Amino acid sequence: MAVIVVSNREPYAPSVQDGRVTWTPSIGGLTSALDPVMQREGGTWIAWGEQHPELGHADLPPAAPRYRVQRLALSGDEVQRYYHGFSNGALWPVSHYFVERAQFRADEWAAYRAVNARFAQAAIDAYRPGDLLWVHDYQLALVPGLLRAALPGARIGFFWHIPWPAQDVFRTLPWDRELLSGLLGADLIGMHTAAYARHFQDACERTLGIETGPGTVAVDGRTVRIEARPIGIDVGAFETLAAAPETAERAGRLRDNLRTLVLLAVDRLDYTKGIPERLDAFEAFLDAHPRARGRVSLVQIAVPSRERVEAYLQLRQQVEGRVGRINGRFSRDGWTPVHYVFRGLDREELVAHYRAADAMLVTPLRDGLNLVAKEFAASSADGVLLLSRFAGAAGEMPGAIEVNPYDRDGLAERLLAALRMPLEEKKARLDGLRRHLRDSDLRTWTQRFLHDLAGPDLLPAALLDL
Ligand code: ADP
Ligand code: G6P
Repeated sequence: MAVIVVSNREPYAPSVQDGRVTWTPSIGGLTSALDPVMQREGGTWIAWGEQHPELGHADLPPAAPRYRVQRLALSGDEVQRYYHGFSNGALWPVSHYFVERAQFRADEWAAYRAVNARFAQAAIDAYRPGDLLWVHDYQLALVPGLLRAALPGARIGFFWHIPWPAQDVFRTLPWDRELLSGLLGADLIGMHTAAYARHFQDACERTLGIETGPGTVAVDGRTVRIEARPIGIDVGAFETLAAAPETAERAGRLRDNLRTLVLLAVDRLDYTKGIPERLDAFEAFLDAHPRARGRVSLVQIAVPSRERVEAYLQLRQQVEGRVGRINGRFSRDGWTPVHYVFRGLDREELVAHYRAADAMLVTPLRDGLNLVAKEFAASSADGVLLLSRFAGAAGEMPGAIEVNPYDRDGLAERLLAALRMPLEEKKARLDGLRRHLRDSDLRTWTQRFLHDLAGPDLLPAALLDL
């Protein structure tokens, strides 16, 4: 029995130079979560082969292969309509409550259906009786239904990594029925929070008129389970890297260069992450507290994302405009208030930044969970986490300072409170956060999901060794 993961994004992207292929980790919550899972489990991962689609499959990770990625080639037109179009121009904004940004186009929906059918076919071809099929995220909502039709007896799991919105928002989607029916092909559907699971059940009742029980939906004589299962992180891996002497050196260099207190933010450049709002709050903070000028810097790391979607291009301009304005207004005597880094960091650099930060600003306007918050809490020795009440992780992380990203002045005041927090309180909060992260880490999450999907006697060997 093997695990077959199906997702849109591939875990590593290839680049080819002088005939040599180099694989670089993809950046985003889904691949951060699933790569370690597959490194433990082994098996097959089916994903869109974005760069160099002619490389049909690969054994990964490159240094010590543990699983095989089967790369699906999509045409330019498919990518445009299915990925940039329906997935990121309609489903992503609706799920994150940005209804006014959503564009609903029948041709993009048709491409979404066609590409979902291609992913499903690849999974059907890879499937052997007894395998566990595990489909991921909003780009592939129709795949479970297609798999169920072709493989009625298969065990099919699905994890929805983003928010599931309240019913009045979800029903703005013209194809709400089809999407729900597709998902209900699964045996087990995971969401990050109880509220998302409740909204999903609400949609089943009100859009499809199906009866639901506690955590269950009955459909076509089958019972589909709906579970709230927030993803964890590999706490041990972050703690080990955070404690490494090289990390301390890097973090020390960062602090020496800045010579101020350090506020840190790390995101994909996405309008859901509240980056302009955060910059406005930092500006309000500098306006309100002249003594902070020259003594506090904000390091904003933003990795480019989905750049062919108009809203993302506009966001980049908004962010760069604000960084320029703040630095133009306040820079003096060798101090630059905002250090803006427009690229992804590798894991070592990332953890050194977490380690160097006095406070971490995780302030999305809406976020399915937010792994950055968890990674920071696992890595920091004495920093403070400010966490938006609109991140799925907020309910799990009471040790964070809760913030409302829409309240600029309130956020500015919370920044001050974070920087003034006594060391013992910082440490106590981090201890509490770490205890929770350890109790609900990535291994437990995977084990529970696959256990529930497979049944106890059918577990892959690696999962038994907890
Ligand atoms: P999302 O799922 O929307 O991408 P998450 O916070 O859940 O957001 O996950 C983002 C993942 O990508 C985390 O593992 C984080 O470390 C990584 N990441 C995000 N931005 C960057 C960046 N600029 N550089 C390096 N890694 C990043
Ligand atoms: C979020 C989504 C993932 C996606 C990731 C990065 O985490 O839930 O499905 O892979 O963002 O976005 P991208 O469009 O680059 O895959």
